[in-house]
Amino acid sequence: MARIVLGVTGGIAAYKATAIIRLLTEAGHSVKVIPTQNALRFIGATTLEALSHNSVDPDLYTDVESVKHIALAQEAHLVIVAPATASFLARLASGVADDLLDNTLLATTAPVLVAPAMHTEMWFNAATQANVATLTSRNITILEPDAGRLTGEDSGVGRLPEPEVIVETALGLLQTQDLIGQHFVITAGGTQEPIDPVRYIGNHSSGKQGIAIAKAAAHRGAKVTLIGANIGSISARNVDFVAVSDARELQKAVEANLDKVTALIMTAAVSDFRVESVSPKKIKRAIAGDKISIELVANPDILASSVTRIKADGLKCLTVGFAAETAASESDLRQLAAHKLMSKGCDVLVANDVSNGQVFGSDQNSVLILAKSGIERAVSASKTEVANAILDILIEL
Ligand code: CTP
Repeated sequence: MARIVLGVTGGIAAYKATAIIRLLTEAGHSVKVIPTQNALRFIGATTLEALSHNSVDPDLYTDVESVKHIALAQEAHLVIVAPATASFLARLASGVADDLLDNTLLATTAPVLVAPAMHTEMWFNAATQANVATLTSRNITILEPDAGRLTGEDSGVGRLPEPEVIVETALGLLQTQDLIGQHFVITAGGTQEPIDPVRYIGNHSSGKQGIAIAKAAAHRGAKVTLIGANIGSISARNVDFVAVSDARELQKAVEANLDKVTALIMTAAVSDFRVESVSPKKIKRAIAGDKISIELVANPDILASSVTRIKADGLKCLTVGFAAETAASESDLRQLAAHKLMSKGCDVLVANDVSNGQVFGSDQNSVLILAKSGIERAVSASKTEVANAILDILIEL
């Protein structure tokens, strides 16, 4: 049984919420309905209460002591908004939170399905389409309206899809929540080791693959701590972001989380060496002369030391390493990957060939995934699809 919040906004299709509630409750789910004030012009709270077997009180300022918008947001496994008006889409896209439904949506980390319904012209209006694009980019699933009879005599795109379709799509989102209860630490980006206050030793990693894994894991219900090395700041649902710059900062952030996580995914390109004595002042060319030597010392191997600690402390944490290799052939890549899987001691190793440099910054990736258990999978797809393939293997493990 899932706890489902059903938001109903003020459109003529609001009466169809009754069929949605019935289908959800008959499937054994608990439904908490949050109508907007305008929805109550179309349908009565009494009907919604009777059908959902739950009280309906859309007032943000009653039961204040229970902080109900947060409680509803945190307890929900799924949020559906049907029908969603143009004005609701605009509020959600811009983060306006002036009623219980808006507040609950801003606070929830559950998957959200929004089913808009409005007149054709309103649906195709550039403002509505821009709001839909914004919401889609934030992992909110928009169920496109059907074409058919509208409120008046006219027909066109804008009709609320049938309640059966809304419920089936919504429950489909629930099924992909296969990482609920998991806490992943994912590192992404490339470390920068300072030479002086101006210069550093860095690498080409864009962090895109790590970010894709973080978003995919969060989308599938995991709590994610994303440790980003020089990738700016990422904000996504269910993702706590920690910014680091050099390898030792990254190590500290990983270690601080290790005992509470179920998987450590090290996509970050970590510099193997750092400058032994960082110059506190900019190194001046005229003083350095024509040749300069910088002494490097080894950085800690974060993945290998994490594997050691996980074993020593008996932690239940799967480990995934990444290897960007310059391989001569596919079999060479497999050999390099198998060797790194062993030497790092991790559960899974994801290797890719970066010989031509094209993978850095790209949205596509071509990887070989090897697991200690013997699983071997080659995936050539978008970084999001690669992310999901890696998560599928973690679930198998
Ligand atoms: N890694 C790490 N700490 C380091 C270096 C690498 O945790 N100091 C992790 C990376 O995040 C990655 C994996 O180890 O998941 C493999 O990184 P890679 O640089 O390929 O490994 P190295 O052991 O440095 O091997 P190579 O000699 O090929 O650079």
